Amino acid sequence: MIDFTNKTLLYISTKIENKLIQNNRISFAIENPDLELNNRSYKTWVNLAEIYFCKMLTPKVIDNKLVEITFKKLNRENSFHSTPITNQLEKYGTDSKFFDINKNEEPTFLNAYKRALESVKIQNRRYILDLGINKGDEFELIQQLIDKDTFDSMQLIGVDHAQTALDYAKKRFPKDNVKFYNHDINRLEELKLQKSDLIISIGTLQTPNINYKPFLMSLVQEYLTDNGAFILGFPNSRWIDNELIYGAKAPNYPYSEMSLLYNDVIFAKKYLQQKRFRVTITGREYIFLTATRIRI
Ligand SMILES: C[S@@+](CC[C@H](N)C(=O)[O-])C[C@H]1O[C@@H](n2cnc3c(N)ncnc32)[C@H](O)[C@@H]1O
Repeated sequence: MIDFTNKTLLYISTKIENKLIQNNRISFAIENPDLELNNRSYKTWVNLAEIYFCKMLTPKVIDNKLVEITFKKLNRENSFHSTPITNQLEKYGTDSKFFDINKNEEPTFLNAYKRALESVKIQNRRYILDLGINKGDEFELIQQLIDKDTFDSMQLIGVDHAQTALDYAKKRFPKDNVKFYNHDINRLEELKLQKSDLIISIGTLQTPNINYKPFLMSLVQEYLTDNGAFILGFPNSRWIDNELIYGAKAPNYPYSEMSLLYNDVIFAKKYLQQKRFRVTITGREYIFLTATRIRI
């Protein structure tokens, strides 16, 4: 077995990279991360596995000093990013690979979204609009965070154009105060919605079919109450073989490149600051922009 004890990380990563060109997995021996003198924890190995698009399998103890680690390549074809699209509206519907993902079970997503909901004081919001609600996951966390009476006193509206996902969401929230509309977000005015005091949109406004900058400005001007807040989630990751892999995929780059992501986030930050919002940017695999009005 390959011995990675007493080797530099550069040596180890080069070896792994070369080995994975020909092989689907690689096993190697390391010093047991639980030993006090060892300064490489399992986090090093999990991070390394992710960088090389691998999953780390359960480590095997060789003896009290050594552990065997195996990296197995993720199946990069098993991803909604690489699934051919036949019906644009149902790209994220129940038959898509995206549908099996549950972001609320991903620690870095959960932590950032929960923090964003706390910072807008979700329990005090009454009219909540979610653009690109899909199967309703964003409402699920709100429901779990606050007490039932408060949730039932809110008006929650989700808009999406994937009918199968909306049908699923309706079954999850069979309540009069939670409504789902199958509608093109670009023609939001046709729904004649009242202004909301919280607008949430995660992984949706950067879709090529939405003209992000003017659309964002119109949301602030036409769809938000005077005390309204925003939670915007920008993916900085890809879903591959059921794993959330850090780093935005950009056209024309073979590796993760974040210029487009930063442009969009900073545009929203600057625009909202001009409009007298306090803006924070948090998160990791999903970047969260949270904006609340500054009281004069
Ligand atoms: C990447 S998914 C994100 C879904 C959900 N917010 C989440 O993070 O799990 C984008 C969602 O926006 C919807 N969508 C994209 N463009 C839309 C449009 N113009 N009008 C309505 N829905 C749209 C898609 O159907 C999909 O459900």
